Amino acid sequence: MKINKISVNSIITFTMLIVYVQPALGQACQKTCGSIPIKYPFGTGPGCGDPRFQSYVTCNQQQLTFSTHTGCYPVTSIDYNNQVLYITDPSMSTCSCSQPSKGFSLDWNAPFSFRDDVVFALLDCSTSASPIYKSIRASNSTTFPLCDPQGASVCSVLYSCQAISRLNIPVSTCCVYTPVDLGPSFEMDLQKLQCTAYSGLYGFNGQESNPDAWKYGVALNYKFNLNNDYPAMCASCEKSNGVCGYGGPYNSYVCNCPSGFNTSTDCFYGAAWSNGLRFYPWQTGIVLVYSLAWFAILCAA
Ligand SMILES: *[C@@H]1O[C@H](CO)[C@@H](O)[C@H](O)[C@H]1NC(C)=O
Ligand SMILES: *[C@@H]1O[C@H](CO)[C@@H](O)[C@H](O)[C@H]1NC(C)=O
Repeated sequence: MKINKISVNSIITFTMLIVYVQPALGQACQKTCGSIPIKYPFGTGPGCGDPRFQSYVTCNQQQLTFSTHTGCYPVTSIDYNNQVLYITDPSMSTCSCSQPSKGFSLDWNAPFSFRDDVVFALLDCSTSASPIYKSIRASNSTTFPLCDPQGASVCSVLYSCQAISRLNIPVSTCCVYTPVDLGPSFEMDLQKLQCTAYSGLYGFNGQESNPDAWKYGVALNYKFNLNNDYPAMCASCEKSNGVCGYGGPYNSYVCNCPSGFNTSTDCFYGAAWSNGLRFYPWQTGIVLVYSLAWFAILCAA
């Protein structure tokens, strides 16, 4: 009888070990996408990073991409210290290439905003039909133009670029629109505004009169949350060589560790549990409780 129980016990325990030993899958969340380091709040796939950022910044075949309802844009770099995402729009015009575009807009609910120094120059606009040339009447009945008067110099320098000057359009068809003018929904619909192209800039590189040197693209600020706190749990997860992610029915915090296991703490702490057999802490607990229960039953018999 006793022998039987012991063998049944060992068979069951052995089965449980097999069921709960987790294969070494490798880290589900990657630390880079192409050459761009990936850290919180961004992630390389579902379950990685912060869920609020998941649909906007994705990694496909080592290309990090930012998406809005107007299109998909390659991410050129991320400045984690200053919380800036730099993107390019393949359809935008630069000093070396002028081409038609439909515009660029942010999703109104996305956790991104334009950095203060971002400038949009709308090009080849219809001076007779475009609404940007109509002035807005303020409540005190003074009027002000939608195009930034201080942007006139940007327009004339930009129109001196060969790619734009050969179109032979007057500089009056250029309008500098700063994002604050774009309204709360950040829409820049060039068809509606009756312009054919645009340039986005996030800096002049200290060379205001040399448009070849300007920084073309869009700089976007992001915030971690309302108070912009970097979650302490993610900081310790990343310090322990893990990648911050989320999972479970409440999208709760998960630290994805190099050998593939997930922990709710960090990889230093989690590794103590996962050495050798790579258990989840709760799995080790179940096996332990299970074995103790059998041990108690055997002793009682
Ligand atoms: C660990 O978490 C990541 C990200 O949430 C997930 O993709 C992966 O499947 C998880 N791994 C295991 C073994 O549960
Ligand atoms: C009228 O309002 C605009 C902005 O609303 C302000 O910039 C301007 O100075 C005001 N003009 C006068 C005369 O009060």
